[in-house]
Amino acid sequence: MAKIAFLGLGVMGAPMARHLAKAGHEVRVYNRTTAKAERWVAEHGGAWAPTPAQAAEGCAFVFSCVGADDDLRQVTIGAGGAFESMAAGSLFIDHTTVSAQVSRELAQAAKAKGIGFLDAPVSGGQAGAENGKLTIMVGGEEADFRRAEPVMQAYAQRIGLMGPVGSGQLTKMVNQICIAGVVQGLAEALNFAMEAGLDARAAVEVISKGAAQSWQMDNRSATMIDGQFDFGFAVDWMRKDLGLVLDEAKRLGVSLPLTALVDQFYADVQRMGGGRQDTSSLIRRFRG
Ligand SMILES: NC(=O)c1ccc[n+]([C@@H]2O[C@H](COP(=O)([O-])OP(=O)(O)OC[C@H]3O[C@@H](n4cnc5c(N)ncnc54)[C@H](OP(=O)(O)O)[C@@H]3O)[C@@H](O)[C@H]2O)c1
Repeated sequence: MAKIAFLGLGVMGAPMARHLAKAGHEVRVYNRTTAKAERWVAEHGGAWAPTPAQAAEGCAFVFSCVGADDDLRQVTIGAGGAFESMAAGSLFIDHTTVSAQVSRELAQAAKAKGIGFLDAPVSGGQAGAENGKLTIMVGGEEADFRRAEPVMQAYAQRIGLMGPVGSGQLTKMVNQICIAGVVQGLAEALNFAMEAGLDARAAVEVISKGAAQSWQMDNRSATMIDGQFDFGFAVDWMRKDLGLVLDEAKRLGVSLPLTALVDQFYADVQRMGGGRQDTSSLIRRFRG
């Protein structure tokens, strides 16, 4: 069992830290809004610290799951950041969805202090985090990965080392490109079914056993038909992720016409007030 710090107790971070505590690790948490850290400790034990540096001091592993690139910079290399206190030989594992660039930048800064760094974005959503069934896409050195893998097992059903630092984030981008097109296709299909006077539920029931099946169809079609979107993975986060994807594609000289279009459709949903709604709310562009 190890001494572990966890930075960021949001929708994803709080349950991930809970799984680490349940596995028997000594967990010290940090959250920008202190009340959340206090509440987490009251429920799950361990300790909380007022800064990332204080949380990370003396820990073998420091995990983070915050918001975007600048948030991650703040909790690592910012004033009171974790890199101030982490010892040589310790390991930083980032679960935030950020750019591959910032992962590489922070891995360099960590290396200068003898700290290992893994970028390890996740897929599986809030339910995956709560149930300990996340998919984790990791970039970094093999030796660091081997050390972190048994610890991350506490909340994962699949963990893959994809290549050097940044490769985890690039793989997460592949994931988001796949999802963007599928959700738009499903939105068009369900709207078509309803406009054609079909029982959309019955249509899904039949075609979901054939080649049209997808995770989105299995998990989101019923709520899309009912017009329910106040749960799940927020459109605002998806736009952040698609922004990262499109920036990277520009750097690579790769064309992503469908992803760029769906990103604009999500901008429409934001303008309709749906920024915090689940990504399946794309269908609102047809149905209000
Ligand atoms: N939700 C999902 O389904 C899902 C799935 C896969 C990946 N992700 C990714 O995982 C990350 C976290 O998502 P989430 O849904 O857990 O978000 P969330 O509920 O909004 O939580 C974000 C956490 O980061 C902290 N934070 C943000 N900016 C910070 C800063 N500058 N300094 C210190 N702490 C900061 C927040 O602190 P406060 O409490 O003070 O606000 C909060 O603890 C995002 O990158 C997201 O894209 C999310």
